[in-house]
Amino acid sequence: MKATWTLPDGSTKTADVAEGVSLMEAAVANNIPDIEGACGGCLSCATCHVFVGEAWLGKVGEVEVFEDAMLDSTDVERTDASRLSCQIKMSAALDGITVTVPSV
Ligand code: FES
Repeated sequence: MKATWTLPDGSTKTADVAEGVSLMEAAVANNIPDIEGACGGCLSCATCHVFVGEAWLGKVGEVEVFEDAMLDSTDVERTDASRLSCQIKMSAALDGITVTVPSV
């Protein structure tokens, strides 16, 4: 399965992501800039903030209450497309997902 990140400079990077791996973990493993994942995915850093591509918003699941609270402390102001990518786990339904890395 694949995911594509649009980087702050407008370029894109696509990587293979295994089932169950979060988009934060995949971003760190593929050296996607500005996705730090400082807390390792335990919802306490918000350094994995991404904007989910519009076509995928309905497929990534609902924002849980703790994620919602952390989205209020992102470096770049949240939008309706904001998610913490440690909370998005790859699945067949998300194959081909596109996300944008916020420009800080
Ligand atoms: S990696 Fe820290 S909140 Fe996602």
